[in-house]
Order: sequence, then structure tokens, then C-alpha cells
Amino acid sequence: MRASDIPEDFDRVLYTDEQVASRVREVAAQIDADYAGREILMVGVLNGAVMTMADLCRAMKSHMSMDWMAVSSYGAGTKSSGVVRILKDLTKDIEGRDILIVEDIIDTGLTLSYLVQNLRSRNPNSIEIMAMFRKPEAVTCPLDVKYVGFDIPNEFVVGYGLDYADKYRNLTDVATLAPHVYNS
Ligand code: XMP
Ligand code: MG
Repeated sequence: MRASDIPEDFDRVLYTDEQVASRVREVAAQIDADYAGREILMVGVLNGAVMTMADLCRAMKSHMSMDWMAVSSYGAGTKSSGVVRILKDLTKDIEGRDILIVEDIIDTGLTLSYLVQNLRSRNPNSIEIMAMFRKPEAVTCPLDVKYVGFDIPNEFVVGYGLDYADKYRNLTDVATLAPHVYNS
């Protein structure tokens, strides 16, 4: 689904699918260079990171394997609750592995700070973060994020895996919502 298919639902498009794809290729090349000769365990954060993971890992030349976690920090709304719960844990041991967490978006940074702390206690060799989007003005938990797709304004965005009340994940562009969507 493109923003132009239902223009009335969106306020404005921040990035088109072409812009996202091109940035993903750049980040993939950077990761390949940094991890030359090492095998990466990419840990995707469900559900938002599905699109980023799918495109990023296919753009990479490095050997990689994939695992997934699901955490909850948001309900159906648009504000972070500050409470992080693990809804689905990794399937394998990560001791000694080089972990790259793949996340859709960093807002306050609370979710990822918790996740990094949690994974660090399992003794991996290294942990780095790739976030497709980051809202620098919203960050309250400073995080060392090695790879960022785009820094965006402090607004709620949907598309490319990001949802509002579980909708719009299949939007290929990244857009802000029209006010009537929140109010309906
Ligand atoms: P924190 O505040 O913990 O939040 O960094 C990260 C999680 O919150 C969700 N989130 C968003 N989801 N559009 C979304 O669809 C947004 O603009 C947005 N901001 C934060 C997201 O699940 C992320 O993992
Ligand atoms: Mg998420």
C-alpha cells in the first residue's frame, strides 16, 4: 500500500519507499564493512522491525543468522508507557555471539535500553544497534546506536513496519497520520 492509495489518512510523507530502500542499502554496506569476516546474529524486535530486517539482511553480504524478540512498551496508543515486558524471547543461546539488534524506531530509548541490558547479561561477544528511525528530540535514555536509517522529527509515524493500532505496517512509504485517524 502506498500513501497515495489512501491520501486522506496521511498528513505528509516523510520518506518514500525508494528513499528508504536506498538508505537501507547504505547501512547494509556499512555493516558489511564493520563486520568483515564475522558472522552476525541479527535480533529483530517484533513486529515493527520485520520490514527493516527483511530488506537490510538481503542487502548485506555478511554471513548472518536471525532471531526475534517481542517486547511491549506501547499499547494501542502513541505514548511510551515506560514498562517493558518480554512477550517472546530468543530461541537460542547468544553467549559469545556478535549481536546486532534491529529495531524499527527509537523514541524515548526506553525499550532498547532495557533490551540491551537484558541481552548483555547473557554474555554475547558484542551488541550493536541498528534502528531504521530515531527521534532525537524524544530520547530520554541515551543509547549508543551504531546504525541509524533516518533521524526524524518528534512526530508519530507509520509505514514500513510501523503501525498505529496495528494498522499501516504495510504502507511502503513512511508518513505522519492525519488527525482524523487518531480521533476516529
Ligand atoms: P521507546 O520510547 O521505548 O519506543 O524508544 C520504542 C517503541 O515505540 C514504538 N514507537 C512508534 N511506533 N510510530 C510507531 O508506529 C512511531 O512514531 C513510534 N514511536 C515509537 C515502536 O514500537 C518502538 O519499538
Ligand atoms: Mg518496535
